[in-house]
Amino acid sequence: MPSITVLGAGAMGSALCTPLADAGWDVRLWGTWLDDHLIDACEAGKPHPRTNEPLADGVKLYRVDDLEEALDGADVVVMSVASVGVPKITEMALPGIVKADALWLTSKGFNPDEDGKIQLLPDAIRRIAKEQGCDELPPIVAIAGPVKANECAARKPTATIFGCKDLEVAKKYARLARTENYQIEATDDEVGVEICAPMKNVYAIALGISDGLEEGTGIPHHNLKAATFTQAVREMSKLGVHLGAQPQTAYGLPGVGDLEVTGLSGRNKVYGVRIGRGEKPDEALAEMDRLEQTVEGVPAAGLARKLVDQSASDIRENLPLLAAVVKILNGTEEPIKQVIAKAVLPREP
Ligand SMILES: NC(=O)c1ccc[n+]([C@@H]2O[C@H](COP(=O)([O-])OP(=O)(O)OC[C@H]3O[C@@H](n4cnc5c(N)ncnc54)[C@H](O)[C@@H]3O)[C@@H](O)[C@H]2O)c1
Repeated sequence: MPSITVLGAGAMGSALCTPLADAGWDVRLWGTWLDDHLIDACEAGKPHPRTNEPLADGVKLYRVDDLEEALDGADVVVMSVASVGVPKITEMALPGIVKADALWLTSKGFNPDEDGKIQLLPDAIRRIAKEQGCDELPPIVAIAGPVKANECAARKPTATIFGCKDLEVAKKYARLARTENYQIEATDDEVGVEICAPMKNVYAIALGISDGLEEGTGIPHHNLKAATFTQAVREMSKLGVHLGAQPQTAYGLPGVGDLEVTGLSGRNKVYGVRIGRGEKPDEALAEMDRLEQTVEGVPAAGLARKLVDQSASDIRENLPLLAAVVKILNGTEEPIKQVIAKAVLPREP
């Protein structure tokens, strides 16, 4: 039975344990210094506080100080912390990651290096490992697609995608982790998966704004929302292709699929709804923080904009929705409906 150590006992880390345990893995779940209350609840046999679902039977729990033990002999390590925590957790877990056959990654975001150069998370992890004197990491498998943690934990039918530069590695783990209700595609398009994963969080804020406009005025803005969705997918594809991704990835599970599910109910959408209803972006964010709701699309928007300036400046004009979200998050005085509409409605050819 292969063993797997999931780093991060939040919603996604705990939820992923369910299909893994069902697929026969020996599963360990390690919580950071922020997760003691989550581990407490699971140890007491209560549902996980973030998913409202019980932890799968047989999953072993480890607290922050037990990292070495949690990683001992792990065949696979999974990074499942919020993107902001990826550098620190990579450093802490490196001795175990290096010995594993693969590092899986559910975290979604971008990361700046010391010089401010924006990197996709797998590249950031490889750089951080190198800075620690480790030149070679096991293959990284980027996990994305339309996966709500609570539904995954409840064994609802779920489609996901494993992306690894080595397609055979992606396929191998897709075979080993799939269950009847958790089915996995494999791709070698690591870049495409890792562009879509954070960008759909940015664009889900824009989708939420349309819903918020409806909530605030009582008037549906479905046409605006649909045009926003379409433009978001185009931009994910355009940016991805510019950076080396395959065009179809944005039109599959990591792009369209994940944008759909995130735009229905994710934290980024909820944040967008607040803005659409009329809350100021910084006040809405403070309230989400108070509710322990990390809105990863906010840092991702600024970092994506920098990434475009650094590595894709010649397509900047083709990414008006990204610019619109950044403008809104920066607190523009212009009516937000107008900002979004200008970005997504067709202009003269
Ligand atoms: N919730 C989902 O449906 C879902 C689905 C797919 C992927 N993801 C991604 O998985 C990652 C984790 O999401 P989640 O839903 O479990 O979030 P969560 O808020 O429930 O848990 C966050 C996890 O990250 C850790 N963390 C937070 N800030 C940290 C910091 N500064 N330093 C170190 N660790 C820190 C927490 O301790 C916790 O383990 C995110 O990048 C998210 O985008 C989430």
